[in-house]
Amino acid sequence: MPVRKYAGYAWNLISLTGMVLAITATGLIIAFLSYEEITGVEKPYLGLLTYFAFPGMLIAGLLLVPLGAFLVREKRRKAAGDIPPYPTVDFNEPHKRHLLIFFVLASIMFVLVVGIASLKGYEFTESTTFCGELCHTVMTPEHTAWSNSPHAKVKCVECHVGPGAAWYVKAKISGMRQLYAVAFHTYPTPIETPIENLRPARDTCEHCHWPEKFYAGRQKVFYHYAPNEQNTPREINMLINIGGVPKTNHAKGIHWHIGQELTYVATDRKRINIPYIQVKEKDGSITEYVDTEKPLTKAEIEKSKKRVMDCTDCHNRPTHIYRAPGVEMDECFVSGRIDSSLPYMKKVAVEILTRPYKTAEEAKATIAKDLPGYYAKNYPAIASQKAKQIEAAVAQIQDIYVRNFFPEMKVSWNTYPNYIGHFYTPGCFRCHDGKHKNAAGKVISKDCNMCHTLLSQKQENIPAGTQPKEFVHPVDIGNEIVKTNCSDCHAAGGQDVPGGETHGGEKKE
Ligand code: HEC
Ligand code: HEC
Ligand code: HEC
Ligand code: HEC
Ligand code: HEC
Ligand code: HEC
Repeated sequence: MPVRKYAGYAWNLISLTGMVLAITATGLIIAFLSYEEITGVEKPYLGLLTYFAFPGMLIAGLLLVPLGAFLVREKRRKAAGDIPPYPTVDFNEPHKRHLLIFFVLASIMFVLVVGIASLKGYEFTESTTFCGELCHTVMTPEHTAWSNSPHAKVKCVECHVGPGAAWYVKAKISGMRQLYAVAFHTYPTPIETPIENLRPARDTCEHCHWPEKFYAGRQKVFYHYAPNEQNTPREINMLINIGGVPKTNHAKGIHWHIGQELTYVATDRKRINIPYIQVKEKDGSITEYVDTEKPLTKAEIEKSKKRVMDCTDCHNRPTHIYRAPGVEMDECFVSGRIDSSLPYMKKVAVEILTRPYKTAEEAKATIAKDLPGYYAKNYPAIASQKAKQIEAAVAQIQDIYVRNFFPEMKVSWNTYPNYIGHFYTPGCFRCHDGKHKNAAGKVISKDCNMCHTLLSQKQENIPAGTQPKEFVHPVDIGNEIVKTNCSDCHAAGGQDVPGGETHGGEKKE
C-alpha cells in the first residue's frame, strides 16, 4: 500500500483545515474582486478584507498543509523507522501523475490569486478611498477640502508619498502607527501641522509643476461684499507677479525663492515667527536677514533647527484649502447662488456660521432656524416675498459649514493657517514685514507693488470713473495699512495666529 502511505501524508486534520481555508479564501477573493470589477464600487472595508484578510487566510492555509504533512511523517517515522525522508515520485503510477498535475495547477492558481490580490492591494493602499475614507472621522476635513480643490484629481499619495519604494515603505510603517492611533483613539484633534516628515515638496510637486518655467503674471480678481445692508459689491483686480515680468523692477518675481537656497529659523511650531533668514547668493556668499524687533542671538541661531524653504512654505494649503465664512459668502454672491439683495445677508450669515457648535447637525439646525428667523423679525415683508431665496440661502450656508467646519476633529476654517498672501495670516509678511534687515541695511520689501500690480478696483469709497494706482482700503485706517500687518485686524477668531485679535461678535470679513 505505498501509494496510500505517501499520498496520505496530507491526509490529516491540520492539512485538511489548511486546504479548506486556502480554497475558501481563494473563492472569496475571486468573488469580491469580480464584485468590484462588475459594480465599479470601491468600498474601504471591503478592500481591507479582499486585499489583506483573505490573502492572509490563503497563505495561512497553504502553510498549514505542509505543517500537517510534516507532523504525520514525523509520527510515522518514529513508528516504522524505515520511511524515506521524501515521498518517491513515480510518474508511471497514474495516481501519482494525477496528483502532480493537480498540485501544479493548484499552485499556479494560488500564485495567480495572491499575485492579483497583492497588486490590487498595493493600488488600494495608494487610493484616495484608502487614505481619505477608511478612517472617516479623522480624515474628513482633509478629504472634504481636497475634493473641492484644484488637486481633487491628484491622489493623496502623489503629495504625501511620491514615487519610489523607499518612501512607500516609510509611509506604510508610519501608516501602521496611524492605524493604531485610529483604532485606540490616540490621535490628536486637530491633527497637528506642519507635518514633520512630509516628503520634501520638490520631490513631489515638481513631478507635475516646473516653477522655473513660470513667467509673467497671473491675473486674479478678488470679489468682496461689504457687511452692510446692501451687501455692496467690491472688486480688486490684480496681476500677481508669479514669475519674471520683463522690464519691471522685480523681473524675477515670486518664484525667485526657489531658484535660491533660502534657509530660515522659526521659533514656533506653525512657523509664523521667523526672526532669521539666510540666502545663499549665486556666487556662494551668504546674506543674513534678521528681525529688527525680535532678534535672535548668535548662539540661539547656532542651535536652532534650520529649514530650507520649499513650495509648501508658501503653498502649505495647495489642496486642503479651508475658506473663511466671509470668502465663501462672497463666492456665493458672485456666482449667484445666494441672492445679494437680501439685506445684511453677509453679516448675518457670517455671524451664525462662526458661533461655536458641537456637531454639524446642530449647526445646520441653527442655520435653518435663525436665518429665516432674522428676516421674519427684521424684514417681514421681504421674508414672505423672498421666502424661496432665503430657503436657498439656508442650504448654501449649511454647505459652507460642512465644507469648512469639522467639530468632531476640532477643525475650522482658521485652524490651519494658509500662507499664500497676507490677509488672514501673516503669510508672506512673516518675512516681508519691512522689519527684517541685512547687515547692509536692506529690508525684505513690503512694497505693495512688488508682488502684485493693481489693475483696477471698485469700491464704495472710490468715485466712479477714477482708477486708483494703489490699493484703497475700504475704511480709512491711515498709516496702519503699511505699519500694521493686515492679519492683525483681519484674522477674525485669531486663536491660532499670535497677534490676531478676536473682535467680539463683529467679524470684519
Ligand atoms: C497637492 C498635494 C496634496 C494632496 C493631493 C493631498 N495632500 Fe494632504 N497635505 C499636503 C500638504 C502640503 C500638507 C502639509 C500642510 C502643512 O504642513 O501645513 C498636507 C497635510 C495633510 C494632513 C495634515 C492636516 C492638515 O490639514 O494639514 C492630512 C491629515 C492630510 N494632508 C491628508 C490627506 C488626504 C487624506 C489626502 C487625499 C484625500 C491628501 N492629504 C491629499 C498636500 C497634499
Ligand atoms: C499629480 C500631479 C500634481 C502634483 C503631484 C501636484 N500638483 Fe499642483 N496641480 C496639478 C494640476 C493638474 C493643477 C491644475 C488644476 C486646475 O487648473 O484645475 C494643479 C494646480 C496647482 C496650483 C494652482 C492652483 C490654483 O489656484 O489654480 C498650485 C499653486 C499647485 N498646483 C501647487 C502644487 C504644490 C505646492 C504641490 C506639491 C505639494 C502640487 N501642486 C502637486 C497637478 C499636480
Ligand atoms: C515665496 C512663496 C512661494 C514659493 C516658495 C512657491 N510658490 Fe508657487 N506661487 C506663489 C504665489 C504667491 C502664487 C500666486 C498664487 C495666487 O495668487 O493664487 C504662486 C503660484 C503657483 C502656481 C500657479 C501658477 C499659475 O500660473 O497659475 C503653481 C502651479 C505653483 N505656484 C507651484 C509652485 C511649486 C511647485 C513650488 C515649489 C517648487 C512653488 N510654487 C513655490 C508663491 C510661492
Ligand atoms: C522665509 C522668508 C520669506 C517668506 C515667507 C517669503 N519671502 Fe519673499 N523674499 C524673501 C527674501 C529673503 C527675499 C530677498 C530679498 C531681497 O533680495 O531683496 C525675498 C524676495 C521676494 C521677491 C523679490 C524677488 C526678486 O525678484 O528679486 C518677491 C516678489 C517675493 N519675495 C514674494 C514673496 C511672496 C509673494 C511671498 C508669500 C507667498 C513671500 N515672498 C514669502 C524671504 C521670504
Ligand atoms: C511679499 C509679497 C507681497 C507684498 C509685499 C504685498 N502683497 Fe498683497 N498679496 C500678495 C499675494 C501673494 C496675494 C494673493 C493671495 C491670494 O492669491 O489669495 C496678495 C493679495 C492682496 C490683496 C487681495 C486680498 C483679498 O483677499 O482680497 C490685497 C488687497 C493686497 N494684497 C494688498 C496689499 C497691500 C496694500 C500691500 C502693501 C502694504 C501688499 N498687498 C503687499 C503678496 C504681497
Ligand atoms: C487697523 C486694522 C486694519 C488693518 C491693519 C487692515 N485692515 Fe482691512 N479692514 C479693516 C476694517 C475695519 C474693515 C472694514 C470692514 C468692511 O467694511 O468690510 C476692513 C476691510 C477690508 C477689506 C474689505 C473686505 C470685504 O470683505 O469687503 C479688504 C479687502 C481689506 N480690508 C484689505 C486689507 C489689506 C490688504 C490690509 C493690509 C495691507 C488691511 N486690510 C489692513 C481693518 C484693517
